[in-house]
This record gives sequence, structure tokens and C-alpha cells, in this order.
Amino acid sequence: MFSLPLLFLPAVLVSAHRFPSHSRLRSRSCHVNDSSSSGLAAPVPVSSNDSSTSGCFPSLGFEMPSDVPNSAEGWWCDPATEYAFVGFSYEVTSCQSLQKLNKDFADIRNRFHSRYVRLYGACDRDGFYDDVIEAAWDNTLGVHALIWFGFDGTDQWMGRRDNLFSTLHSNPKAQFVTRVVQFGSEPLFDGVLPSDTLAAQVLSAKNNLSSLGIPVTVSELAYGYQENGGAQNVLDVIDSINIHMLPFFSSDATTGGDSWSLVLDDLNWFIEKGKGKKMYFDENGWPSVTSEAVQSNGPNAVASVGSEHAYFSLLDQHCNDLKNVVGGGVGWFAHIYSDNQEPGYGIYDSSGKLKFPFAPRTLC
Ligand SMILES: *[C@@H]1O[C@H](CO)[C@@H](O)[C@H](O)[C@H]1NC(C)=O
Ligand SMILES: *[C@@H]1O[C@H](CO)[C@@H](O)[C@H](O)[C@H]1NC(C)=O
Ligand SMILES: *[C@@H]1O[C@H](CO)[C@@H](O)[C@H](O)[C@H]1NC(C)=O
Repeated sequence: MFSLPLLFLPAVLVSAHRFPSHSRLRSRSCHVNDSSSSGLAAPVPVSSNDSSTSGCFPSLGFEMPSDVPNSAEGWWCDPATEYAFVGFSYEVTSCQSLQKLNKDFADIRNRFHSRYVRLYGACDRDGFYDDVIEAAWDNTLGVHALIWFGFDGTDQWMGRRDNLFSTLHSNPKAQFVTRVVQFGSEPLFDGVLPSDTLAAQVLSAKNNLSSLGIPVTVSELAYGYQENGGAQNVLDVIDSINIHMLPFFSSDATTGGDSWSLVLDDLNWFIEKGKGKKMYFDENGWPSVTSEAVQSNGPNAVASVGSEHAYFSLLDQHCNDLKNVVGGGVGWFAHIYSDNQEPGYGIYDSSGKLKFPFAPRTLC
């Protein structure tokens, strides 16, 4: 029996009630437009070193070595070559077994040509992250690991941080599959730490993980920064900008296929403030149903399978626009793998059927 991950509900509920009116964000000047020659960066011709296909981890077609390498030198694909669809958000509150992780990660890699999984939620079972590492290694997937705060203002995150760091140092495969550590999912939006404390934690995490070469980010909404005075102190210390792109919550939301201007509002804000850093849409999608927890702030927002599908198609249609964004292009994750992980946002429904055809572009 699947246990419903209740932990995520409050965040979405909070989002529903507190997400800003998009009219405030609308006034931002627009740096990108619908044309692929938008002048952000010179369009890059597809080259043989494009990391969706070349011989670096976790490019498509990469063959895992039989032994763990001695050094990570030259191991990772250059983030500046990673764009388009890169993988899924994957909720771990149900503490999946190694067998289940292996099954899902194989599907994520082989059926959808993913390069990454982005963890969401928390499993505090001893050795869980070792299992994630094992399944990621066996399925040629990089991992965006997560220190989960939860929503109750508890100190549990400190133990999670220490456990994760210990595993990263002790498991010899960890540095070869852990692409980045997310220091929280919407910690600014949820107000779990003042921005200067969060920035200091990010710096200390970077220091702790520097010998492993594992970078650190914060997974956050544009609005999470904006409601904290821009939180430039956080933006300045994170290694990549991991963006929550959830335009359904906007007061101007209509359908998933008609949300490009909302995507640009937030993306342009990050382009303006991000000083050229690599960007991902790491929590990114459109719901097929509303629920108590998932309510738009707009009267015209349509939650439907068609709208969810159209949102991802929209990102595919704008593959070149996203590729041309500073930092080597935006790589995007689909939120989320299954409706069992977050009702309405899944690519699969709760019975394991695809809700719509999903074969997003991995290059353009
Ligand atoms: C979009 O970009 C194209 C090409 O650079 C330009 O001609 C056009 O005026 C731009 N449109 C807007 C609305 O900025
Ligand atoms: C990819 O190839 C181009 C052209 O050969 C080169 O200029 C660029 O530096 C390469 N990029 C990477 C990440 O190797
Ligand atoms: C990294 O953090 C772990 C857990 O907090 C700690 O045990 C370890 O000593 C730290 N290592 C470094 C090099 O800071």
C-alpha cells in the first residue's frame, strides 16, 4: 500500500495561498523573447561534444566503467553543455527499497532518456542515500541530492545534512553520481532560515564537500528570493541556480500551453540577478488536477492532463530559447515522476499509466 507523502502538502498549500500576484513580476524587463535569436548568447551550433550524447557522465550512451575511477577529473559532463530535458523530480518520502529505486531509475533512464534525478522530500532510513547512489550508478544517472527542511521549523535538517555529508565522504561512488547538493527546497519561501544564515550554511557545505568536488545549490522559487529582498547573498554563493518554475500558481495563469510569458517573467529575473550561473528548472511542471493543496491564485487557471502535457510541449517548442540562455542553457526536470509522489503533477498516474505521451527533447 502506498503511503501518501503528506510532508509536501503544506508547501504547496502555502504556495497556493502566498504565491505573488504575477502583476508584480510582470514589470521586469524582458531579455528573452519567443525568437530563438533573442540575443542572450550567441546560438551554439550542436557540436560533437554536446553532453546529451558525448562520452562524459551522465550523457546518453555513456558506458559506466566496471570499477570506480580514481579521480573525478574529466568525469562529469560540462554543465555548460547541459540543457533541454534532463530528468525527473523524484519524491523519496516513501523510503523506496533499493529494488524499487533500481526499477524506477532504469525506467527514468531508458524510457525517457534522462540524465538526472532530482530528489524531493526526505527518507531518514539509515543507508537510504547509499541505495540511491547504488541505483544511480547502476543506471547511469546523476543525482541532485537534497537536504530537506520540512515545514515545521524543526532542526531535523541538521541531522540530515550531517548524515548526507558523511555518506558523501564515505561511499566511494558518491562523488561520481552526486551532481549537486540542494540546500533545501524552498527554504527562503518557507522562511525556515534567514537568508544570511542560509548563505552561511551553503558556504560551509561547499567547504565540507570541496575535496569531493560536489557543488551546492538552493532549490527555490523566484518569489522566495524576491520576498527576501532578492537574497543576493544566497544567489552569490550557490554554484548553480535551481529554479522552481510552477506557473500554475500565478494569478495570471491560464493553460500550460499559454504560460511562456510567465516562465519568462521568472527566468528573466534570474538572468538579471544570477551573474551568468548555470540554471535548471528543477521543480517544474503543471498539475492535471487541483486539490486542497494545489490551487492557483488565478481565476482562469486550467488544471487538466491536456494542460500538463501542453506545458512540457511548450518547453520543447522553446528548446532553442532555453538552450541560448546564459550559462549554457536551462536544463529542465519534469515535476514529478508519478502521481503517487505528488498528486496531479505526475507523468505517470497513480496506477502506473502514462498520462500523456512524454518524449521530451534532450537536445536541439
Ligand atoms: C524578439 O527578438 C527578435 C529577434 O531578435 C526581435 O526582432 C523582436 O523585436 C523581439 N521581440 C520582442 C517583443 O522583443
Ligand atoms: C566543444 O567544442 C567546441 C568546438 O570544437 C569548443 O570550442 C568547446 O570548447 C567545446 N566545449 C567543451 C565543453 O568541451
Ligand atoms: C563534513 O561534515 C560532516 C558531517 O557534518 C563532518 O563529520 C565532517 O567532519 C565534515 N568534513 C569536513 C572536511 O568539513
